[in-house]
Amino acid sequence: MAKTTGIQFDKEHNVFNLQTPGTSYVIGIYDGKIPMHVHYGKKLNSTYGIFDMLDRKEGQLFDYMPMSMEYSKPFAHNEHPQELPVYGDGDYRTPAFHAQYADGSTITKLLYAGHKIYDGKPALQDMPSAYVESDEEAQTLEIYLEDELSGLQAVLCYTAYRDRDVITRSNRYINKSDKLIKLLRVDSGCIDLPHMNFDFVHFYGNWAKERMVERTPLFRGLQSVDSTRGASSHFQNPFICLAAHDATEEVGDVYGMNLVYSGNFHAGAFVDSMEKVRMFTGINPFDFQWMLNPGETFQTPECVMVYSDEGFGKMSHIYHEFIKERICRGRFRDQERPILINNWEATYFDFDEDKIAAIAEKAAQVGVELMVLDDGWFGKRNNDRTSLGDWFVNEEKLPKGLNSLVKRVNDLGMKFGLWFEPEMISTVSELYKAHPDWCLHVEGRVRTEGRYQLVLDLSREDVCEYIIETLSKVLSSANIEYIKWDMNRSMTEIGSAFWSAEHQREVAHRYMIGLYKVLGTLKERFPHILMEGCAGGGGRFDLGMFCYFDQFWTSDDTDAVERQFIQTGTSYGYPTMVMGSHVSACPNHQTSRITDINTRGYVAMAGQFGYELDLNTLSEEEIEKVREQIKLCKELAPVFHKGDMHRIKSPFDGNMTVWEFVSKDQKIAIVEIFIIKCAPWNPYQSLKLRGLDPDAVYVDRNTGKSYTGEALMYMGLQRRCDRDFGYEMLILEKQ
Ligand code: GLA
Repeated sequence: MAKTTGIQFDKEHNVFNLQTPGTSYVIGIYDGKIPMHVHYGKKLNSTYGIFDMLDRKEGQLFDYMPMSMEYSKPFAHNEHPQELPVYGDGDYRTPAFHAQYADGSTITKLLYAGHKIYDGKPALQDMPSAYVESDEEAQTLEIYLEDELSGLQAVLCYTAYRDRDVITRSNRYINKSDKLIKLLRVDSGCIDLPHMNFDFVHFYGNWAKERMVERTPLFRGLQSVDSTRGASSHFQNPFICLAAHDATEEVGDVYGMNLVYSGNFHAGAFVDSMEKVRMFTGINPFDFQWMLNPGETFQTPECVMVYSDEGFGKMSHIYHEFIKERICRGRFRDQERPILINNWEATYFDFDEDKIAAIAEKAAQVGVELMVLDDGWFGKRNNDRTSLGDWFVNEEKLPKGLNSLVKRVNDLGMKFGLWFEPEMISTVSELYKAHPDWCLHVEGRVRTEGRYQLVLDLSREDVCEYIIETLSKVLSSANIEYIKWDMNRSMTEIGSAFWSAEHQREVAHRYMIGLYKVLGTLKERFPHILMEGCAGGGGRFDLGMFCYFDQFWTSDDTDAVERQFIQTGTSYGYPTMVMGSHVSACPNHQTSRITDINTRGYVAMAGQFGYELDLNTLSEEEIEKVREQIKLCKELAPVFHKGDMHRIKSPFDGNMTVWEFVSKDQKIAIVEIFIIKCAPWNPYQSLKLRGLDPDAVYVDRNTGKSYTGEALMYMGLQRRCDRDFGYEMLILEKQ
């Protein structure tokens, strides 16, 4: 059978086979009308006969099931896997779509009305999305569905990449009637799987504890994660997996789903009475409603799906490549980023020009390339109670203006970067005095503060314009080459003074449309500025953000041990290339833990490397180590960022963390070993490496010892693990 990629259409049987190199996503149009989800998983080279395999109409259970009688055979919606399950036709699983029509009813029937297959991948209205660099890279299928009675049209849009095992999916809804349609639930993707022998894996957390791994067997009923905080949040990440019970890093079926969206989401799995599973993701329907007027279109965010038949490791590799190459974009996408130093943990709000210049001077001497001035440089910002929104220089701290400091930093041969929290407004600020109605609020209700601040109403165009123009002014006023874009509180009282009563439940989503527009405009105006996202650490670490930000501050917890958990959890769905990671002072400011400067350095190198302390406070011996770290990081960054990451030992499973990074050409492998809890009772453990050339000999750069690739992978490195906080970094080079 011919091995093809792209989208094959079997006209005779109405079956679409969306083929990537190793996977197939198959859709069949039952009776020429109902879009059914036939298969997602290992590649089918042919769809011959498969539709018949789903033809179910016998069995006593059917007597007790609602049946649609208008098709050539009675059709039980509850029994069949669906592409766009709706409410009201007897499918009692969680629907992907729900709406209310002018007559007050909430029943939908969307039937096949045609399709289009074309090369390439379209951009989406209002929403960021994955892209292609040339039309040959992927094919897109649009399936048109129509609800005759209501006049609603749905367009299901799928893209199959030809050289990546990735399928993207989104839907758009068009009101072709002359009456209002209220959209109530608009999921981006859902797949129906034939059994429940899976674990639900998701990434929960908190401030300073982002993306911890939770894995639980599926149970009958609904299990889901979500956010109602206005951001994807620290608490639950939009990335979810369903993994076979026995799936490990190397074996087993794993399905991944992630959403290109940064606001209120939901994602989960519903196990029905027949123990079948529906996996779904989309905008959180809680408190959501969209008024779709005649002629208008609503575009859902995009969902990115990956199926791996070789466990979590392969799934992560596919996501990593895809995010680095088809989600991230712009000038810095393929470049190594400058090593930065940030003054936040060094000074907090207490600084002036000389203090920052002194930090920069020391940093320049050891090879740091970018000085980032964090919070406190603007308005009257001497603590976290004032001035957000007043984006002009704090003259008390910087009496000679921003330019004078920027010049001093540039004269040291370093770039200069600046912190902003553009989506916020302090109640004590010039901006709040001028525009008390520019924040999210509900008239007559108390405005709940978070870190003494309110959230600007980005569903308003005038507010978005203000942010674009004030930031543009600052960014054009000096040689600023990096910004850190922070967002430090969850939303409350999500309401807008601009929108009328019936549009209030649209505000959270309109906010995201506004935010994406602001970020897109600034990225276009200042393409030379490296942008790092932040949200009280990693509280908005999602694919929507990575369409704009080159990297994201992974967590405010800079403790090297805590970071092993945070970075391991994050790595399931996201590449090291985007994880901001810094060496900070000891005792650590979040945990008081003391770790060696090398441990801190090695952990931070497995991300976007930098420093978060005043290097003037280090001993000469430590400074020497910093110098070495920078040299090593400059040399090895391409392996850390562009190579494959293997989670050899996870801190979630035992007493140590072992990360391995292998260059694409298998010429160099870095193995980082961190002991979290010593095991004097088991002083040597075996670490089986992965991804090496089995036939090659690898030489350990530090000891000169050599090993074969096969022995390293199949027998394993023997390593000591009886010292608390022991650390080691091996550089293995192919001979
Ligand atoms: C957040 C960020 C920190 C720092 C502070 C400044 O907490 O995560 O890195 O920028 O804000 O207020």
